[in-house]
Amino acid sequence: MKTMKDKNKEKTVLITGASNGFGMEFAKLFAKDGYNLVLVARSTERMRKLGHYLQDQHLLEHICIITADLTRLEAAREVYQEVHNAGLQVDVLVNNAGAGVHGMFFETDLEREKAIIQLNITTPVELTKLFLPEMKQRSDGKILNLASVVSFMPSPLMAIYGASKAFMLSFSEALSNELKDTGITVTALCPGPSNTMFFRRAGAAHTRAANGSLSEPEEVALDGYEALMKGETRIVSGLKNKLQTTSSNLMPDMALAASMRHLMEEDPAEEETNPTGTAKYDEEEITQ
Ligand SMILES: NC(=O)c1ccc[n+]([C@@H]2O[C@H](COP(=O)([O-])OP(=O)(O)OC[C@H]3O[C@@H](n4cnc5c(N)ncnc54)[C@H](OP(=O)(O)O)[C@@H]3O)[C@@H](O)[C@H]2O)c1
Repeated sequence: MKTMKDKNKEKTVLITGASNGFGMEFAKLFAKDGYNLVLVARSTERMRKLGHYLQDQHLLEHICIITADLTRLEAAREVYQEVHNAGLQVDVLVNNAGAGVHGMFFETDLEREKAIIQLNITTPVELTKLFLPEMKQRSDGKILNLASVVSFMPSPLMAIYGASKAFMLSFSEALSNELKDTGITVTALCPGPSNTMFFRRAGAAHTRAANGSLSEPEEVALDGYEALMKGETRIVSGLKNKLQTTSSNLMPDMALAASMRHLMEEDPAEEETNPTGTAKYDEEEITQ
């Protein structure tokens, strides 16, 4: 009789942003359960190294590495085409790649923000549009979208990022309802501030949020993975974040905005504790 792991050997997950942070942790979790992997990001070498390591550890049948800058308008279609050219079918789609930019909207760079909207919203929507019809034909599929605790509240100093995550939560929950009873589930994962490269890349390493208590990416990814496997519509990762998002329902939006602004301002104590704003995967080997 086939075990669950044997059955998964016939299944493939596509993970965007698989070269770092949560995406790398998702790749490890899916590989452990026997899924074939399609890893998508810009850092080809990091993904190759991760792919080799996971193939050795778990004897996977296929690992496909796709180098793509998902801020490009054509990116989703090109990724879809590469998956087809490789003769693979995507059973699970993980829309994980994302980025933010810190600063007052009247000062931040519009081109960078348009790229973030493309990366955080348009590309995941387009990937979903492209892969969903095949899932629908098979009456089988799972989609995991990265939202955030900021999906529930305005985010001063990260206005575009926060709005993009509100979009992803709303989009996921609407799709989840539309796809009820089709065999396809859509899950939104809402992490709080976490120990990845995210804050540093957003130019927000010196904020109170980045220097407060951070979730570990392994734990966040596991929460998302388990919720996805159960077909849950929404998972807020971590008790503190669950309490924050629940209490956000009771607070006026402008009070939430003020509290978020405080978190996203410079942490005066930061210079001493974390002068370079290092994150977990900065120098670390991807196979640890
Ligand atoms: N960390 C947090 O506090 C936090 C909290 C809530 C939600 N999230 C969300 O979680 C997701 C993953 O973030 P993370 O924390 O793991 O951040 P991360 O450590 O910065 O990783 C981001 C991943 O996205 C990829 N990526 C970034 N820009 C890309 C582009 N233009 N094209 C293709 N891939 C790109 C990166 O790969 P390359 O650089 O190799 O392209 C990397 O693999 C994001 O959607 C983020 O918004 C993060």
